[in-house]
Amino acid sequence: RDQRLLAGKKVLITAGGTVERIDPVRYLTNDSSGKMGFAIAETARSMGAQVTLVAAKTSVPAPGGVELVRVQSAQEMLNAVIERLADSDIVIKAAAVADYRPVETAVRKIKKNDEEINVRLVKNPDILQTVGRMKTTQYVVGFAAETERIDEHAMDKLQRKNCDLLVANDVTLEGAGFGTDTNLVRFYDRQGLVEALPLMSKHGVARQLLTLIAERIQTKEGT
Ligand code: PMT
Repeated sequence: RDQRLLAGKKVLITAGGTVERIDPVRYLTNDSSGKMGFAIAETARSMGAQVTLVAAKTSVPAPGGVELVRVQSAQEMLNAVIERLADSDIVIKAAAVADYRPVETAVRKIKKNDEEINVRLVKNPDILQTVGRMKTTQYVVGFAAETERIDEHAMDKLQRKNCDLLVANDVTLEGAGFGTDTNLVRFYDRQGLVEALPLMSKHGVARQLLTLIAERIQTKEGT
């Protein structure tokens, strides 16, 4: 097996769950641990790639040997990704980006004087969709966390967000999705389902994914 399948490639990976602040001590986030994105980053590095990892809130240590960029919110993640897009060959979006953020972040801790308070939310920019619009030669891989009609939703996201490849996980299944060490995923391209993998470690998923990407970009480059 070729251990250096991604030698010389610049890979930009996002991981973790974005943090959307309500006030200085409270925020909205999700259950992403960063394990999936970190496994991809570590594996890409071991396959010879130069890796930039943009990580939001995570609950496990980040891998070494990669350029680590820490962010909090979706907006910060968007900026970090856009800044580095032109200098990337492959972009993989494993992060769980909050779809909404509070309209305003209170400067001081919100007091508990009222029986009821409202936190108004506004839609966040879609980072993957923005990358899909801006990409030139980059190979763009999205993720999809689904709870039903996985094939249909995955293909819809792939097309809408203009990805080259999409990794879908049914996060309702045991051992798949948020927080676990394992995942159960399916890969899709523009033609449809490419592969449905059995339950395996997130590192195993990362290796399968990166091997497929390496094959696909080599075909594209005609090497
Ligand atoms: O971190 P772990 O605990 O290991 O969990 C891994 C995971 C479940 C988070 C991961 O496998 C995963 O599925 N990540 C994508 C989660 C997600 O946000 O899915 P989505 O279907 O809501 O979004 C689809 C794609 O659009 C994703 O690539 C996401 O990064 C991107 N997106 C979504 C919303 C938004 N505002 N901007 C985005 O870029």
